[in-house]
Amino acid sequence: MAAAPFPEPAEARRPADITAGHFFAGVIGVSILRNWYVDGAFNERRLAELRNLANSTEAFPYSLALNPAERDLQSGYREWAANYDGPNPLIAAEEPSVRPILDRYAGAGKRALDAACGTGRHAAYLVGRGCVTTGVDQSATMLAVARAKAPGATFFEADVRATGLPSDEFDLAVISLALCHLPDPTTALIELARILRPGATLIITDPHPDSATAGGQAFYGGITPGQPMTWVRNNYHRASVWLAGFRAAGLRVDECHEVPIDEAGIAANPAALFVPEAVHAAFAGLIAFWVWVVTKPAT
Ligand SMILES: C[S@@+](CC[C@H](N)C(=O)[O-])C[C@H]1O[C@@H](n2cnc3c(N)ncnc32)[C@H](O)[C@@H]1O
Repeated sequence: MAAAPFPEPAEARRPADITAGHFFAGVIGVSILRNWYVDGAFNERRLAELRNLANSTEAFPYSLALNPAERDLQSGYREWAANYDGPNPLIAAEEPSVRPILDRYAGAGKRALDAACGTGRHAAYLVGRGCVTTGVDQSATMLAVARAKAPGATFFEADVRATGLPSDEFDLAVISLALCHLPDPTTALIELARILRPGATLIITDPHPDSATAGGQAFYGGITPGQPMTWVRNNYHRASVWLAGFRAAGLRVDECHEVPIDEAGIAANPAALFVPEAVHAAFAGLIAFWVWVVTKPAT
């Protein structure tokens, strides 16, 4: 067995704890559900894993109490800001997908907006492409990291649903991994359409509904001693919700990419150290995130 990524628990778990064993059982269950009609021997190996797990719930790693705690947007990103730029498989997969699209629209002197910019990774990139770049976010703590990372951009605190920015201002806007935090993206899309100039492009990345099948949420912390596992709620907007939002905002859909979970993302799953075949069968082929490219029509 490979080295454990988790600290050994100091105390026996309590009956109501949410444990690593529960997570592993879910992964094995999804792997069977997505493949049960293909190969009986595969199913038997999964049942053996489940038997082993059921007989070992008090043993490490299954006994490890994770007890993920939900945080609201404000406190979540206040806590997360210092480590947000650390290894993050979703960001590692997103950047190669979205940066070539940004390259098509960015350029010297273009006015670019990084909406819900967080720690400013896209804002810094747009500055590097010569854009006159603005970033907005609701989290002062995330913005402090962004200001240090991209001193050439202008940042301020605002809700993307009501930015206070002038109408018809930007040649290009990007909003990454943020509309998932809203119950419905429509109000934000209407606001972003307002501040784009006619003919300008909006690029959106957002976690895909398949992420719910993969047990996803905006998790942070949890595998470092003394740092509890915490999460901010994601809403996995369906295609019908996106299309209704674009229509309400008067935005034209030019492209929709559905980017699968890649091998690095699968390998990064903590359960992959213990039940690698199940992890692969559970997650391979699921979509990690959408990339939408939409335009505010010129007339
Ligand atoms: C997962 S982070 C993404 C940050 C950055 N766009 C990136 O891709 O690295 C989500 C960000 O959205 C911001 N956010 C969420 N809802 C927002 C809202 N209604 N208005 C402004 N910012 C918001 C959060 O503060 C957080 O910084």
